Amino acid sequence: MKRAKKTRVVLGVTGSIAAYKAAELARYMMKRGCVVRVVMSESAEQFISPLTFESLTGQPVARSFWEETQPGAIGHIALADWADVVLVAPATADTIAKAAYGFSDSPLLAVLLATKAPIVIAPAMNVNMFEHSQTQENIHNLQARGVMFVTPESGDLACGWKGRGRLAQPAEIYHHVRRAVTPQDLRGKRVVISTGPTREAIDPVRFISNRSSGKMGLSLAVEAFHRGAEVTLVHGPLSGSPKLPSLIRTISITSADEMRSAVLTTLGRDPAHHAPDIMIMAAAVADYRPEIESDQKIKKSNAPLNIQLVSNPDILKEVGEIKGTHERPFLVGFAVETGDTEKLLSEAKRKLEAKNADLLVGNLAQDSFDKDTNKVLIVSKGGNAEEIDTARKSLIAKRIFDTVATNTRSQS
Ligand code: C5P
Repeated sequence: MKRAKKTRVVLGVTGSIAAYKAAELARYMMKRGCVVRVVMSESAEQFISPLTFESLTGQPVARSFWEETQPGAIGHIALADWADVVLVAPATADTIAKAAYGFSDSPLLAVLLATKAPIVIAPAMNVNMFEHSQTQENIHNLQARGVMFVTPESGDLACGWKGRGRLAQPAEIYHHVRRAVTPQDLRGKRVVISTGPTREAIDPVRFISNRSSGKMGLSLAVEAFHRGAEVTLVHGPLSGSPKLPSLIRTISITSADEMRSAVLTTLGRDPAHHAPDIMIMAAAVADYRPEIESDQKIKKSNAPLNIQLVSNPDILKEVGEIKGTHERPFLVGFAVETGDTEKLLSEAKRKLEAKNADLLVGNLAQDSFDKDTNKVLIVSKGGNAEEIDTARKSLIAKRIFDTVATNTRSQS
């Protein structure tokens, strides 16, 4: 298998008490296929030793202009050119201010000024320093120049205060790094995704559900975020607690009825004009629910128990009807089947028509349910069918959005 090119990250570490967290962050990124080169500010060295980063990354650490002539060292301009992305984490108020005003009296500031690569800044500081109008103005000015910021978390701060100022988690920072290096073909687009199973209550302790893990829809949501979209994820009960980017709006539901209300709400009052650009219904909605939900636990007895089931609303079909002949939303459905690929293809084609979808992704239950990988067929309106062999769901998500992009381009 061809290995993906490693992402080259210049990691700027500045003098915040959170500097030690940059070591974990460097490892986190390296595990996910990044090469990391660290540039430290002078005050960062008061909190963590350059040796820590040199040992972790296997690369020399840039510390001062005057050491650049040493063997193995790489000058600040070469570093700025080498980077696919420059990340400053943690970033102090001082570094943010200097970057906003174009200072370049340290290797890190010089890299920020010289690089043509995207820049991501993850601030960490005292809440009052973060909320100070000068810091906010500096952040705003940098954002206006295309610099991405990772909002710090709220909580207990090392300085004794409580509030916003804690360095964001590695997963959150890394999602922004990925977004920074991904072509933004969904920038400004609104994408709604449904995923996971639904649970249909029998009584207060029992329900009917299915084996869906929701992982395919989660991968789609993350991919859409990386491509620049504004993402809403409507999800049923998920296995595990995935680390989604905090900018993804999540709506947690339990039953099909709740999912229907949530999905229809995202269409807005006037779907003809305000519908999202793309909707992907990847949820495994239960087709039936008990006609009566008992408000008391049903008691065990020796007599057989019959539970009358009634059909659930078909959400995808309803959205397809609302869409009618409009271009928006570009509607993607899923079909899960048991059986062989031939049956899957004919069912995918049938569902594409029946639900007025623009694209239908077919997968077999044995390839997809509760797995990190999937194998899919993507059928588009013209009847084109594309087969994607077994791959991680993150890669399948990429291919699905590539096909969405091709199809939306040919529509406009
Ligand atoms: O008809 P079938 O359930 O196989 O269709 C699957 C597609 O329809 C999926 O995209 C699924 O999310 C959607 N669906 C739905 N509401 C239902 C059943 C399925 O939106 N009640």
